[in-house]
Amino acid sequence: MVEHARKALIAGNWKMNLDHLQAIALVQKLAWTLKDRNFQSTTVEVAVFPPFTDLRSVQTLIAADKLDIGLGAQDLSRHDSGAHTGEVSGAFLSALACDYVLVGHSERRADHGETDEVCLAKVQAALRHKLTPVLCVGETAEDLEKVGAAAVPVSQLTTVLEGISADDEIVVAYEPVWAIGSGTPATAEQAEEVCSTLRDTIRNVHGDEAAERTRILYGGSVKSSNIAGLMRGANVDGALVGGASLDAEEFAAIAQFEKHVTVD
Ligand code: 13P
Repeated sequence: MVEHARKALIAGNWKMNLDHLQAIALVQKLAWTLKDRNFQSTTVEVAVFPPFTDLRSVQTLIAADKLDIGLGAQDLSRHDSGAHTGEVSGAFLSALACDYVLVGHSERRADHGETDEVCLAKVQAALRHKLTPVLCVGETAEDLEKVGAAAVPVSQLTTVLEGISADDEIVVAYEPVWAIGSGTPATAEQAEEVCSTLRDTIRNVHGDEAAERTRILYGGSVKSSNIAGLMRGANVDGALVGGASLDAEEFAAIAQFEKHVTVD
């Protein structure tokens, strides 16, 4: 088993799936499954990122049953309040005891034209409200062909790092766009290579301490059958899981990657 320098984070991005009743059912099942499997949260943290309309229900469940499950939102406004119809303030997420918020997921970059500058403003908004932003970066298949794997994620990350301070706590999620929902993840070597380059980027902009402290996740077709291999990378500190996070058994099995026999 690889000794991880940072506490692993296994994060479930539910995307636009499950209403608040279905959310309660899934989180209850996840909690039972983790308990049944004797999951230990000392080295691995589990968090879920439900749609906005589910957050209050999931928060109530987590608080009432004292579940060891983190909570995050999938987006936030760059503004704090005011005339921004349809937007959700980081202040409201903070009031719902959210720990995390995704910023710049490739689906938001593609569907809503979110630029690196918008992502920076959202990261700053999250930090203002004491939320840990999970900044998503990653290259498309076209980028991969033209400039290789690391260039685009490095540039996306650099824009954000240059607008925050070394003490600010963020999580980075490397999600190659071509791997998302495709059933074909990056290989463990590809994931480690880009995550290592992203850590070097943090080191260059904010120094050693920030580079060693910051968790860098991999996302894109993560399943229980491939997580152990991905987690063997010294610079891969966890996973941002989409489809597989909607199945309690499968997500719990991913969270227990430390127990998997790692075969390549
Ligand atoms: P899949 O795990 O469904 O490929 O989605 C990954 C993702 O986009 C998580 O944010």
